[in-house]
Amino acid sequence: MTDEVSRNERIKEASDYLRGTLAHGLREEITGAIADDDQQLVKFHGMYLQDDRDLRPERTRKKMEKAFAFMIRVRVPGGVLSPQQWLALDQVARDYGNGTMRLTTRQTVQLHGVIKSNLKSTPKAIDTALLNSIAACGDVNRNVMCGVTPERSPAHAGALALARAISDRLTPRTPAYREIWLDGEKIAGGDDEVIEPIYGRTYLPRKFKTVVAVPPSNDVDIFANDLGFIAILDAAGVIAGWNVTVGGGMGMTHGEPETYPRAADLLGFCQTKDALAIAEAVVTVQRDWGDRKNRKHARLKYTIEDRGLDAFRAEVERRANVKFAPAQQFRFTSTGDRYGWSEGAEGRAHLTLFVQNGRLADGGGVAQLSALRRIAQVHDGDFRITPNQNLIVANVPTEKQTEIEDVAREARLLAPWSGLRRNSLACVALPTCGLALAESERYLPELIAALDGRLAAHGLSADDIIIRMTGCPNGCARPYLAEIGLVGKGPGRYNLYLGGAFDGSRLNKLYREDLDHAGIVAALDPVFAAYAAERQAGERFGAFAIRAGFIAATSNGADFHANVGPQRAA
Ligand code: HEM
Ligand code: SF4
Repeated sequence: MTDEVSRNERIKEASDYLRGTLAHGLREEITGAIADDDQQLVKFHGMYLQDDRDLRPERTRKKMEKAFAFMIRVRVPGGVLSPQQWLALDQVARDYGNGTMRLTTRQTVQLHGVIKSNLKSTPKAIDTALLNSIAACGDVNRNVMCGVTPERSPAHAGALALARAISDRLTPRTPAYREIWLDGEKIAGGDDEVIEPIYGRTYLPRKFKTVVAVPPSNDVDIFANDLGFIAILDAAGVIAGWNVTVGGGMGMTHGEPETYPRAADLLGFCQTKDALAIAEAVVTVQRDWGDRKNRKHARLKYTIEDRGLDAFRAEVERRANVKFAPAQQFRFTSTGDRYGWSEGAEGRAHLTLFVQNGRLADGGGVAQLSALRRIAQVHDGDFRITPNQNLIVANVPTEKQTEIEDVAREARLLAPWSGLRRNSLACVALPTCGLALAESERYLPELIAALDGRLAAHGLSADDIIIRMTGCPNGCARPYLAEIGLVGKGPGRYNLYLGGAFDGSRLNKLYREDLDHAGIVAALDPVFAAYAAERQAGERFGAFAIRAGFIAATSNGADFHANVGPQRAA
């Protein structure tokens, strides 16, 4: 290693496979935080050190330490949880967290507000439900997502099986998690090849994200991910193989045009028997080719831009010992969830609930967390967290359908009427996220109410339009693939992006900068008016914004920053 590698590389290298001084630091009672280097390592264990930013000013005035607490993200491949697992997480949220559960855009559950003295008890409690949080954050393959569109088709079972197999194959093997959190015995020594055969001592240059999609639904937002598998079905609806995608990613930095979001490319078609070897080869090529000096240039998307897709494909083929066939035809229609009841197998049905921005709590006159606890107590199917921060109560037998629907309705978990709200996502942002420049989860509901007023005036209330907001440009709620994207710039101020595709296949582009609440409404109102007056049959809002000349189209990441701004006088 040279001196040039980033600080995180040195921390990983010296960590003895992610141990660092975590075990010791947890016992230090003098602070609610942990050592600087351990703050990087704890992410690989699925935990983030945060502080309550609402309380910062007062605590600074009183010369108190920040109000530190941890966020813990559980690993839930494909978002599938049993009712018992749901009940266990609900209990953990109330015992050790802040009494809320957050469903995430990667189909996992986040618990916020876990103070250091409860930090060890939490993974233990999670472990009793046969769950863990390893690799939910950090420079590793994160939670593997899988399309949830609840249909009868056996293709969904095949997709979930692949997602789980990839998750198992790419989960770090270090015994550190078990040692530190579950009081497992310390296992010393061993070669790199034995301890981490895929990752080695320094893991990946940056985070890595994998998804499995079943067309026509692109609910997993495949083009936002480093690695994706698209199920290709034969005439009988059986999986014939997979189109593989690589090089998608959202994060960028304001004012640094060499950073940009990028939509994934198609690498080719493979058979099911080769899929795992290909997943592993994509990861090891990125491990070896990815940039370890500059973390802002370390995602697979930049490796592919720098080396070219053909060279990348050739190296994956060589390592996996597989030749790709040309990608096969497929068609995505949308990234959204289908709310309400849908038919399942053997007389059972699935109910897709609307969870605003994924946050489940009791308060403000509704008890959504308690309602789901009641449902979990009587439910004998499973739960599926959707990539849109929603929840499916899956496989409900006929005799329980009315009861479950009644509980959900009372807790206002059935889909709202507004087409905009039904298609909204917001990242967490304030008060817990240390990177937030502006509000997101706490503000988007209010902005939608204002925009709904304008949409109603133009007769567009029921139209499905995808809106996503994040509190900073990192892009956790995938705002650059939305038809309306809003990205925090500073307190109360946002950049507005237009022109994303409804099916998730095209990035949007910067339309107006640094807008406040009134500015956002004023900027969008004329575009809504034009959409109502001029759209063609079936034309989606994002596509219309381009055709009508409001915004230029983005063809891929590298031209995301070209031709920005309004193209037609609004
Ligand atoms: C440099 C890039 C990024 C950094 C440093 C980062 C950091 C964070 C942090 C600190 C949180 C916790 C916020 C909280 O719960 O208080 C978070 C949440 C989350 N991030 Fe990121 N993030 C980045 C990019 C992304 C991207 C590109 C995606 C996905 C496309 C993503 C997916 C998520 C998800 C699913 C959550 C959970 C909360 C939610 O659903 O809104 N992150 N991120
Ligand atoms: S997008 Fe930014 S503000 Fe939102 S959760 Fe991610 S890092 Fe935090």
